[in-house]
Amino acid sequence: MKSSAIAPANIAFIKYWGRKDHKIFLPLSTTNSMNLSNCLAHTTFEFDENIKTDSIIIIDSNKVEKEIKKESGGKNTMLFRTLDRIRDQSGTRLKARVVSELTFPLGAGIASSAAGMAAFVASGFMAAGMEEKVNDIPELSREIRLSGSASAARSAADGFTELLYGESHEQSFVRMIAPPDHWDIIDLVAVVDSQEKSVTSSEGHEVAETSPFFNARVEYLKEKPDQARKAILDKDFATLAELSEVDSINMHAIMMTSTPPAFYFAPGSIVLIHKIRQMRADGVAVFFTFDAGANAHIICTKEHLSHVKREIEALQQVKFVIENSPCVGVRIVDKHLF
Ligand code: DP6
Repeated sequence: MKSSAIAPANIAFIKYWGRKDHKIFLPLSTTNSMNLSNCLAHTTFEFDENIKTDSIIIIDSNKVEKEIKKESGGKNTMLFRTLDRIRDQSGTRLKARVVSELTFPLGAGIASSAAGMAAFVASGFMAAGMEEKVNDIPELSREIRLSGSASAARSAADGFTELLYGESHEQSFVRMIAPPDHWDIIDLVAVVDSQEKSVTSSEGHEVAETSPFFNARVEYLKEKPDQARKAILDKDFATLAELSEVDSINMHAIMMTSTPPAFYFAPGSIVLIHKIRQMRADGVAVFFTFDAGANAHIICTKEHLSHVKREIEALQQVKFVIENSPCVGVRIVDKHLF
């Protein structure tokens, strides 16, 4: 049985950092994002009796191929655990071959592992004959969350989405806020540093509570997801800009004050922060947000796109820029990679 899926990465406006439950990856609060049209993973998953051992291969946009090792820990180990979970649920005992192709460079700190995880889970359950689970978007998002990446669960639905806060596995699932064509804002990923991050998100989630500002973040988060959802529905760029920038800096404050601390910003990140704030003060509809990495996600309106792109690309710290529009979530596709 062979099946393929394409899934987008996403950029969060109200971020997920720290968990309510580490075993089932429940985020601290509702978290929301937009899917990214040019940061995609295309994955083919096959269960077959002729396959003697499980293998997972990732190929990035530079055609760099990487065989994932079960023992290497973190998200890599989680992929193999997810494969076992798919086998348990479907009852198959067959071994699997998985190949995943990314449209963006691997390990460049771009857009996290969300695209890969979402495509892996959807194509895996489909290849195991569990089509009903794949077609049930909330249920699919729970499975993606359980694979270790709550941020990836947001890529299960279309356009602008939110992963709901919940006290149990059942309660935390994805919901669409608005479809991709609701609002034509753009995310320019400005790459200033292409090294792999030194502290993984998972390590960060586990120590977030050690920050003396953690409780303040939990309190502050109570109203933010609702405010951000409203700003998206109202296409209120100024409000979303304010909420997102504050949330991103607030999350990085937790990161930098946890024990051990994590410093994700590079010199180029700070240059971009100043540049974007200056542009906004000059009347340009633009804001920044950073995930667990040095590369800025620069959100702007279509109207200001060419100006913003020109200004960003002119900075000597910026190596390249990936332009993204809002797009649909994970999809099963006919085209197989092998
Ligand atoms: C900083 O545990 O979902 O991107 O799978 O590496 O993306 P990855 O990590 P995950 O945490 C990522 C959190 C974040 C903020 C966010 O996307 O909400």
